[in-house]
Amino acid sequence: MPSRPFLRAILVGAGAMLVLVLAFLLFRGSSAPEPALPENFDTAQFVAGRPKLDAPYVATDLEVVDAMLGLAQVRPGDHVIDLGSGDGRILIAAARSLGAGGLGVDIDPVRVREAQANARAAGVAARVAFRRQDLFDTPLAEADVLTLYLLPEVNLRLRPRILTQMRPGTRVVSHDFDMGEWRPDERRRVGTATVLLWIVPARIEGSWRLSDGDRSATLALDQQFQAFIGTAAADGRAARVEQGSLSGEAIRFLLDLGEGRRVYEGQVEGDAIVPANPRAGWRMERMR
Ligand SMILES: C[S@@+](CC[C@H](N)C(=O)[O-])C[C@H]1O[C@@H](n2cnc3c(N)ncnc32)[C@H](O)[C@@H]1O
Repeated sequence: MPSRPFLRAILVGAGAMLVLVLAFLLFRGSSAPEPALPENFDTAQFVAGRPKLDAPYVATDLEVVDAMLGLAQVRPGDHVIDLGSGDGRILIAAARSLGAGGLGVDIDPVRVREAQANARAAGVAARVAFRRQDLFDTPLAEADVLTLYLLPEVNLRLRPRILTQMRPGTRVVSHDFDMGEWRPDERRRVGTATVLLWIVPARIEGSWRLSDGDRSATLALDQQFQAFIGTAAADGRAARVEQGSLSGEAIRFLLDLGEGRRVYEGQVEGDAIVPANPRAGWRMERMR
């Protein structure tokens, strides 16, 4: 036979359970019902009204964001454009940690509002703007850095605009996806992600007149992205442009004009190429 205190404990426990169950049922019963959709709600129209995304929304991990900004060497005062900016994390990190400013565009107004709220909360709303805009309609010329987390085919569609609209030397970083035949200048692994960097190359394709002391030559350069090859003609003699490299406006190649190979290292300045060392005594001008 159980003792009296033991029975009392059982009864008190059972009573407490009963109170809890009743409270739970009461709470459920009093919770507001799901708001009903308006009678004339048209699901097909709602779906059709959602923005058509060229890339789905997936946020970049913060560790990868840091790697992207590091690889692009984002610095104070840089103008960063993020195409498909999502919740704004790339631009907000660039502004908050590195003193940059910029513009994020996204086709989805929900994302734009979220990014604007996040920028305000992070105290960087004065330096970064988020706008509802199609990334294919966004002018790119102002950017010092372009950040992308899109899809390979979207990168490929953007590629001609990057190469023609953006200033030589602009840094382009992409999370995971490449640019087809335009190979990256650098690539880094971050966990399971890949971060890729391109430096927009100066356009050097065509004919150039090289004056080097009392010698001169005509160079024909053939360019594919940051790679180039070429031939030089001087005094009825042909020579090959060797080991050419181009990073933004910085150019370097070897050429033998008859006195042994010489290193030509300089800077593309529009229709001229000038030596990095002003005392090098050579210069190139684009021929029309
Ligand atoms: C993979 S998410 C990247 C989000 C953010 N940049 C990040 O890395 O965390 C791609 C974003 O692109 C946006 N997007 C897709 N198509 C777009 C378009 N045509 N114009 C602008 N934004 C677009 C999507 O709404 C989405 O927010």
